[in-house]
Amino acid sequence: MDDLLKRLKDFEDSALSRLKSAQSGKDLDVLRVEFLGRKGKLSEYSRMLGKAPAELRPKIGAEVNRLKKVIQERIDAAGVGFGGGGKKEFFDYTLPVRSSFVGRKHPLLQTVDDIVSIFHGMGFEVASGPDVETDYYTFDALNTPEDHPSRDLSDTFYIKKGVCLRTHTSPVQIRTMEKQKPPVRIIAPGRCYRSDTPDASHSPVFYQCEGLYVDEGVTMADLKGTITAFARMMFGKNVRVRFRPHFFPFTEPSVEYDFSCVICGGKGCRVCKYNGWLEISGAGMVDPEVFRAVGYDSEKYTGFAWGMGVDRITMLRYRIDDIRLLYENDIRFIRQF
Ligand code: PHE
Repeated sequence: MDDLLKRLKDFEDSALSRLKSAQSGKDLDVLRVEFLGRKGKLSEYSRMLGKAPAELRPKIGAEVNRLKKVIQERIDAAGVGFGGGGKKEFFDYTLPVRSSFVGRKHPLLQTVDDIVSIFHGMGFEVASGPDVETDYYTFDALNTPEDHPSRDLSDTFYIKKGVCLRTHTSPVQIRTMEKQKPPVRIIAPGRCYRSDTPDASHSPVFYQCEGLYVDEGVTMADLKGTITAFARMMFGKNVRVRFRPHFFPFTEPSVEYDFSCVICGGKGCRVCKYNGWLEISGAGMVDPEVFRAVGYDSEKYTGFAWGMGVDRITMLRYRIDDIRLLYENDIRFIRQF
């Protein structure tokens, strides 16, 4: 039985050299079963221990235990190199961490979030509609005549006859009123598309945020108050708002509205082209023809609607001077916000 110690020694040499030449996690698994498994070599030696002379048993037992430890350690160490294998739960806590990048919201969507939260505070809910719209919702229901220039192929992307990419968020007004009786208080942020040649202030895709308020007794004063309150919450209490007469087929009367330049405070600078005002979008009292299209009683209800150029607002608050930057998705640009 003395030769059991010698056999253990031989086993150690061959086991270590075979571990050294293992090529994969799979090789290691096979060797682990062969050496350490329940029916493996070392278990066999443990069983033979019982038949060994009593005085040799402690020595042989210690040797078997040492081998178990050594072989397990070799398997673990090799397994790390193969990305697994060996002992399954092995983690090397000393490896350096991989650098991680925490994503963040695109500046346009941050602005949408802020617009939504301001109007939420005034009791408006968010509504939405599809980007691919029908002519009916984009133009007809909004009282836009057949020959209106905004319907032109040079302005609007058509998918097929009667179906286009929405050129504004106003179709969401119609979709909302078709589903809901007054009072209505919604905003609708989303993408819009126009066949514009891209330059520093035009992009064929852009964001608007529509607003609509319909109830009994709503007036132009409510429209002015709502937009002015928004301007102050977005750009600070010193911003002034100006309303200029305008025309839209779906509102009467209609206005365009401007904010005093948030860059120079209205004194005149490059951004406001030295006139102190920044054009934001259009607004007005909902035209009775629009109420007729959705089946609202225009004798009973009045309302106001407005648009908002989300790109414009984003560019002003972050001092971005080219709208194209918002759509190119250059990670070096987006990471700065
Ligand atoms: N839809 C108009 C535009 O895109 C803006 C607008 C919205 C005007 C609501 C009046 C009322 O220019």
